[in-house]
Amino acid sequence: MSVLRLGVLVSGRGSNLQAIINEIEAGTLKAEIAVVISNKHGVPALDRAERHGLNAVFLDPKAVADTPDPRQTYDQILLETLQRHQVQLVVLAGYMKMITSILIDSYELRIMNIHPSLLPSFPGLHAQRQALHHGVKVAGCTVHFVTEGMDTGPIILQQAVPVEEGDTEEDLSERILKVEHDLFPRAIRLFAEGRLRVTGRTVRLSDA
Ligand code: GAR
Repeated sequence: MSVLRLGVLVSGRGSNLQAIINEIEAGTLKAEIAVVISNKHGVPALDRAERHGLNAVFLDPKAVADTPDPRQTYDQILLETLQRHQVQLVVLAGYMKMITSILIDSYELRIMNIHPSLLPSFPGLHAQRQALHHGVKVAGCTVHFVTEGMDTGPIILQQAVPVEEGDTEEDLSERILKVEHDLFPRAIRLFAEGRLRVTGRTVRLSDA
């Protein structure tokens, strides 16, 4: 059986990318990373990819800024890069650029995102700050399939994380991040094992 080929999109630190690499290298996630693509130059995530001998690509959004629809043009190039590397599942690991229908239509229910809140609460930027400002007692993270719309696709896995008295944004982000590093590889493993069944908004886990 061939191993699931991942394309990981990143924009920054890359700790979720690292968690995925670690599980693959440990043999606990049967997948391979075909390519890591960043929309930001020189970010730690690209260094991590290179250190582990992975294909690491920076695609510069400025290169398409003069086209009639820069976001679509960018995603067309992104799509071609993913297809050239025969990517089967696209993983958004801290990728902070909205993706367009070009990518979503070609990889329907084959794009996963991790978000640092219990969706549908607190979509968008600074989810942990939003949660603290709202005064919630329980925060968490969500892995979901990507559809059009911000952080709205069918939910695959979620895990709650307590908010402690006096938490700063950094405290809460760090507590959530630890859980993300377990949750994201778990969701990818379920996909790799063919155990995700999607009906409308609902994702069911079938037996192994
Ligand atoms: C993670 O907390 C991830 O959930 C979040 O960005 C961080 C990336 O960290 N993603 C979003 O907010 C997406 N809306 P990392 O680069 O160390 O993996």
